[in-house]
Amino acid sequence: MEIVETAAGCRDLLNGARALGRTVGLVPTMGALHDGHVSLMVRARAECEVMAVSIFVNPLQFGDPEDIAAYPRTLERDLVVCSEAGVDIVFVPGVTEMYPSWPSTVATTMSVTGVSERWEAASRLGHFDGVATVVAKLFAIAGPCRAYFGEKDFQQLAVVRRMASDLSLPVEVVGCPTVREADGLALSSRNVRLSGEERAAAAVLSRALAAGRAAVDDGVRSGAALAAVMRLVVDGEPLVHLDYAVAVDAGDLVEVGDVADPSSVRLLMAAQVGPVRLIDNCAALSRREVRQLERTMS
Ligand code: PAF
Repeated sequence: MEIVETAAGCRDLLNGARALGRTVGLVPTMGALHDGHVSLMVRARAECEVMAVSIFVNPLQFGDPEDIAAYPRTLERDLVVCSEAGVDIVFVPGVTEMYPSWPSTVATTMSVTGVSERWEAASRLGHFDGVATVVAKLFAIAGPCRAYFGEKDFQQLAVVRRMASDLSLPVEVVGCPTVREADGLALSSRNVRLSGEERAAAAVLSRALAAGRAAVDDGVRSGAALAAVMRLVVDGEPLVHLDYAVAVDAGDLVEVGDVADPSSVRLLMAAQVGPVRLIDNCAALSRREVRQLERTMS
């Protein structure tokens, strides 16, 4: 496994791999790697001949200085995780490697209108511009590849897909299923900041999503009714303060009034639990049902 700190070094290694006819997989991360990240690496390892992981805590996507200061940094352990997952190249740039003008303003940034402006945007001003900017840079450094992102950050995935498509970037964006704890809590690097009580309470998000999905299965088609079902479940957990629970179109993330086609609808939620803002989401149909639907349609 090679560890590179410069963009030029990373680009040279990946250009070299492609020159030998090898396909490249990229897993962008901010470190503090957990099994969710490992699942992205496993998928990339299976589908690509050379796998690169980037580890960079991107200051542009944090609004609150306290949030970035509290973000877990576990580089030594992360490198062990990468090595065990069969990563070929780990790109670990410093902040001035990515943003040479830092800490002065970064003059050129990326903005994806529409999909960036909803849900998480209301409480995280500029967050998706920061994500889009760093991901555009990582794509420019990596070159043609498949890039793997978790569905847990569903809005982020939608923003990245839209950017790659609008800018004709030579990158295939691959969304991968959320990995969950046994009680349903979606894995996140932020979970370590929850107290024992908060951690137990946080599982209510996945229970609320499951209730929303069950309501769709039972024939509920009103977006507002699905939101109410999810809200009701969260209301039963006093440590969890719901921000939003909505049924949205899975492509542009606009709230749907009526769930005409559950296979194109996503249920999204966000809540504050102690010091941590948690997000979660699921398809309005289970994967099994989506597969069944695809079989009937083909
Ligand atoms: O999901 C993350 O860890 C980050 O937002 C990403 C995509 C690596 C960009 O910094």
